[in-house]
Amino acid sequence: MSQLIITTNTAEETIAVAEKLANRLTPGDVITLEGDLGAGKTTFTKGIAKALGITRTLSSPTFTIVKEYEGKLPLYHMDVYRLEGSDEDIGFDEYFNGNGIAVVEWAQFIEDFLPEERLDITINYQDEQSRVIEFTACGAHFESIIESLS
Ligand SMILES: Nc1ncnc2c1ncn2[C@@H]1O[C@H](COP(=O)(O)OP(=O)(O)OP(=O)(O)O)[C@@H](O)[C@H]1O
Ligand SMILES: [Mg+2]
Repeated sequence: MSQLIITTNTAEETIAVAEKLANRLTPGDVITLEGDLGAGKTTFTKGIAKALGITRTLSSPTFTIVKEYEGKLPLYHMDVYRLEGSDEDIGFDEYFNGNGIAVVEWAQFIEDFLPEERLDITINYQDEQSRVIEFTACGAHFESIIESLS
């Protein structure tokens, strides 16, 4: 199975889905997040942080591009919105091949740097409280993860 669609009706539900996913992740995993402004990319990442036992408040890294958090595994939270149209390599390899989990908001802007094996997530705004979350697994590792989520 390489695709899974889940609808959530509150931000808390989105966080819970992200926690369930994060419990299945292993070092070096890369998650991409696409979706309009306010879709819920950072909210989803908060759920991942929660599952990793990160207690520091996760805020949007828009102005720093990458924020690193210490948890059961390190979390590299990236927001590459500001890299649109640039081909600058900010050292992506280190994050994508590291010991932690890399989560990339607006990943479409750094497509050329993304590893082939990854989990792509698109969040679509339905109404104020509802979101449709679409998971696309690239590679066997992520296929088995989304199978276990369904
Ligand atoms: N079902 C839902 N899932 C996720 N967020 C929701 C949901 N319902 C309401 N929300 C709210 O929508 C907002 C999503 O904001 P968030 O910062 O996560 O979006 P974002 O995609 O990271 O935006 P940006 O592109 O600005 O980084 C939050 O205020 C959150 O509480
Ligand atoms: Mg965000």
